[in-house]
Amino acid sequence: MISALMLLVTVWSMATPKNEDGSRLWLRLEKTNTTATVTGVKCTAMTELQSYWQGGPVLLKQKKGMPADAYAIKSEGMKTVITAANDAGLLYGAFHLLRLQQTGQSTTGLDISEQPAYDLRILNHWDNPNGTVERGFAGRSIFLNPDPERMKTYARANASIGINGAVLNNVNAKPEALTTENLQKVKVIADQLRPYGIRVYLSINFASPIKVGGLKTADPLDADVVSWWKDKVNEIYKMIPDFGGFLVKANSEGEPGPQDFGRTHADGANMLGKVLKPHKGIVMWRAFVYAPQSPDRANQASLEFMPLDGQFADNVIIQIKNGPVDFQPREPYSPLFTSLQKTPMMVEFQITQEYLGAANHLVYLAPMWKEFFGWVKPASLKAMAGVANIGDDTNWCGHHFAQSNWYAFGRLAWNPNLTSEQIAEEWLRQTFRPTPQPLPVMEGSGHTQGSELSTPLSHREGSGESLLLDMMLRSREACVSYMMPLGIHHIFAGTHHYGPEPWYSPKGVRADWTPPYYHKADSIGLGFDRTLTGSANVKQYPEELCRLYNDINTCPENLLAWFHHVPWDHKMKSGRTFWDELCHKYDEGVREARSFLVVWDAMQPYVDQQRFDEVQRKLRIQARDAEWWRDACLLYFQTFSHRPIPQDMEHPVHNLDEMMKFRIPISMYENPDCGYTK
Ligand code: GCU
Repeated sequence: MISALMLLVTVWSMATPKNEDGSRLWLRLEKTNTTATVTGVKCTAMTELQSYWQGGPVLLKQKKGMPADAYAIKSEGMKTVITAANDAGLLYGAFHLLRLQQTGQSTTGLDISEQPAYDLRILNHWDNPNGTVERGFAGRSIFLNPDPERMKTYARANASIGINGAVLNNVNAKPEALTTENLQKVKVIADQLRPYGIRVYLSINFASPIKVGGLKTADPLDADVVSWWKDKVNEIYKMIPDFGGFLVKANSEGEPGPQDFGRTHADGANMLGKVLKPHKGIVMWRAFVYAPQSPDRANQASLEFMPLDGQFADNVIIQIKNGPVDFQPREPYSPLFTSLQKTPMMVEFQITQEYLGAANHLVYLAPMWKEFFGWVKPASLKAMAGVANIGDDTNWCGHHFAQSNWYAFGRLAWNPNLTSEQIAEEWLRQTFRPTPQPLPVMEGSGHTQGSELSTPLSHREGSGESLLLDMMLRSREACVSYMMPLGIHHIFAGTHHYGPEPWYSPKGVRADWTPPYYHKADSIGLGFDRTLTGSANVKQYPEELCRLYNDINTCPENLLAWFHHVPWDHKMKSGRTFWDELCHKYDEGVREARSFLVVWDAMQPYVDQQRFDEVQRKLRIQARDAEWWRDACLLYFQTFSHRPIPQDMEHPVHNLDEMMKFRIPISMYENPDCGYTK
């Protein structure tokens, strides 16, 4: 019997891998030479299938009454019938079929019906008018001079995973976003994305009536202000009839907002909601608020938003980051998700790896997002947003594997019940398998052959794909381990957030922008006391969780230093002291990062040389960075713990004084070429 590995090698070596630059993302099907027979509704689904479908005839059927974007795929003899209520649904159905083909799964006997969990599945781009991308690690904005071919690939990629909205500009919005000149540019992009079911949205600056309109105030209850917004919104909808709406960062990190005029978030959001309502537009109002004087940043969103529960208009959705602080490698969920009862909510994930090694580290994020859904019921949310990791780099995301996070975001926004493993498998097969050769159509059956790989990859022990899958699934936990295990958080280098700087605390910088505010290391221990006798943050969680988190003996160890100031000698479940466990966790992270290199190196025969080299280079940076993180954090925390590094682990290979002097001279708009280079 041919072993699984043999099969893999056989299948993968059917074609010698040609160099690839990643520009095609996971959409690597070759165009067919002969046009497939596709009949029925003329729409983008038809052109996609005509270009890429290699099977028998497909009929595209419209059926009123089905939920928007939902679709059914049914095999009827030779034919495959895709049914949906709208063009978008047909397109999603078409991409489903193409995915089956591309992943070598069966395309016969189909009886599929799919409906997205959320109506709104949105990418938030943090792109600036000058082309920089805040926390962007993959080059400059793709929207600056939108190249039609590139925009088409972007649109197809999104549609292939169900993403149907894009906020085109940074939440730290420049007022120029709303000038007529800029709106004309937005219109061009909207026209390019529309055929793929993607609506555009804009982030707005709340002070626009002053800065663009020349008014004296932006008070949301001022009649002139309201009428300025009405006119502006009318202007937008005249150009872009299906414009989605606004995303607003207000009274947060120095951005203007209704509080500047003595009004509440609800006053501001509802005013905009009312103006957008006749056009069916929405407001996504962010809950990312915190002020420097607060003793615990994690408490603040709830303090500001809970009193407003039930006061928001029905086309306003509160957009809440998954955790209460800021996209850290591990945070508990933001307690607003379970405490707001009468307010529509959406989660904001960060696909770009601001705090996860930028575009240098391989960190597959689905497990992190699934962890969130383990706490927060998907059904309690209205929508899902993700801060995009997309730029004008040839491979779109800076790191070939970072494409998997864009992919996973879309798939989870469609169906949050998919597992991290399923999504990674799909992505790997589409991204790294040699592009399937056009397969012969079986006589009389109307379907394709070639589903040798239909056994789940994970069941094919030792195969290349299953090793890669395993590496992806372990990567987030590895990153947590080498960066900030056991609930430690926000100990990054100031401003650009790449690399460790737990000591960063320059004079004049607000305390909550410095790591010591979060780690609170001292001779007793490490961590933020958020218990009932500390900042009482635990109280914002439902009673059961409050009790669990409040007690150092029941608090999950992976969140221990999030909720507790943990004594260095606290006994951990492993029997080690907290200090020893911390040391071991950091070391484990380093060993994991190194093991990814070993896995990848074994893939050389099966991956094209270009992508192999590019990923290998990144994995080497990651392994070195992991050492840098471990050594910097352990040596620095050791100055408080005064305890030895355990004998049974690798000891630091760098010096603390040198690491403390080391700076990476980058802004928040770029990816470092390298990590620690001394
Ligand atoms: C983080 C990030 C900022 C961003 C902010 C936000 O703090 O570092 O660049 O503007 O989040 O989400 O608004």
